[in-house]
This record gives sequence, C-alpha cells and structure tokens, in this order.
Amino acid sequence: MDALHVRSVLVTGSDRGIGLGLVTRFLEKRDPPEWVFATSLDLEGSHGKELPNTDTVISFQKLKKLAGHHPNLVVLQLDVRDLKSIEAATRKVEEHVKEHGLTLLINNAAILIKFTCLVTETAENMERQFNTNTIGTLQVSQPAQKYPGWQEGPKGNCLPK
Ligand SMILES: NC(=O)c1ccc[n+]([C@@H]2O[C@H](COP(=O)([O-])OP(=O)(O)OC[C@H]3O[C@@H](n4cnc5c(N)ncnc54)[C@H](OP(=O)(O)O)[C@@H]3O)[C@@H](O)[C@H]2O)c1
Repeated sequence: MDALHVRSVLVTGSDRGIGLGLVTRFLEKRDPPEWVFATSLDLEGSHGKELPNTDTVISFQKLKKLAGHHPNLVVLQLDVRDLKSIEAATRKVEEHVKEHGLTLLINNAAILIKFTCLVTETAENMERQFNTNTIGTLQVSQPAQKYPGWQEGPKGNCLPK
C-alpha cells in the first residue's frame, strides 16, 4: 500500500468488511492521502434496522473512532442505488478535493444474496443484486467522468486521459 500514492480516495461501503480495512490502511500509510472518504448507508450506524447486527455496530464505531483520530477522514452517507444520495456525496467530495478532483474511487459496496438453486432462484433477488452491484457501481462511477483525469472521446464518449 505504501507504494501507492493518491491525493484522495473514496471507498464505497466502508463502514465494515474489506471497505473499512482499505480505509484503515490508507489512513495508516506513511504518506496518507490528503482526503479519505468512507461511505456508509446509514450515518447513525443502525442501517435502517431497529436491532442492527452487533458486528455492524462495532465496525461502524471503529469508523467513527478513526474519524476522531484522522482529520483527513470524511464519512459520508452513500447508497449506490440512490441518485440523490450519490449527488449529495459527490458535492461533499468536491467541496474537499476542489479543482484536483477525486484521484481514486474504489467501488467496494456490494451485496451477496445467497444463491439457492436454479429452481428456487427469484427475479426479485437477482434484481436486488444487479441494482446494487452493477447499476449502483455504474451510477457511482459516472460523476468521476467530470474529474480532470477524463476527456471526451471522438464519438462523444468519455475516456481516461
Ligand atoms: N469477502 C470476500 O470474501 C469477498 C470475495 C470476493 C469479492 N468480495 C467483494 O469485496 C467487496 C467487499 O466485500 P465484504 O466482504 O467486505 O462485504 P460486506 O462486509 O458485506 O460489506 C459490504 C459493504 O457494502 C455496503 N453496501 C451494501 N449495499 C449498499 C448500497 N446499496 N449502497 C452503499 N453501500 C452498500 C454495506 O453496507 P451495510 O453495512 O449497511 O450493509 C457494507 O458496508 C464486495 O464488492 C464483495 O463482492 C468479497
């Protein structure tokens, strides 16, 4: 991780699991990014559930504790399925990174709905997983095209510079 130098990084779904691990490693670097953006579906840590999972609460508390120790860590609400939430998080990121843009976006957020078997699999389950993992990832990546590392291609498409 020390060999990777980035000015700013945003990790989606980083209030637990691999995302929280990545955020922690970026903050612990010898030359940490100027800004590390961690995102959570729910800034209260309850994740919309009356009785949230204990492990989820502990992880979320770890993230809040990290934010207390690292002024370069910004915790944002972000639901990759919700365009309004993406727009709000993008505005907050822009307020911090200004003209430099976001250097690195890690599309970590995802859900895994346990596959049962061909006969019992449901369209509803497949749709939920596709909405988060595929469409959500695309939606979160779209604002990145405004950043300085991108340019308009010959057919009006967007290409990395
Ligand atoms: N763990 C593995 O062995 C493994 C293997 C291969 C690939 N991966 C990939 O690595 C990534 C992280 O895995 P993990 O095991 O750390 O997963 P995880 O513990 O289940 O964490 C997933 C994170 O994504 C968030 N999330 C879910 N839906 C979201 C949404 N609609 N908008 C924003 N955030 C959302 C979750 O929020 P909540 O806390 O609110 O649910 C959580 O913070 C995933 O992309 C996964 O597919 C993991």
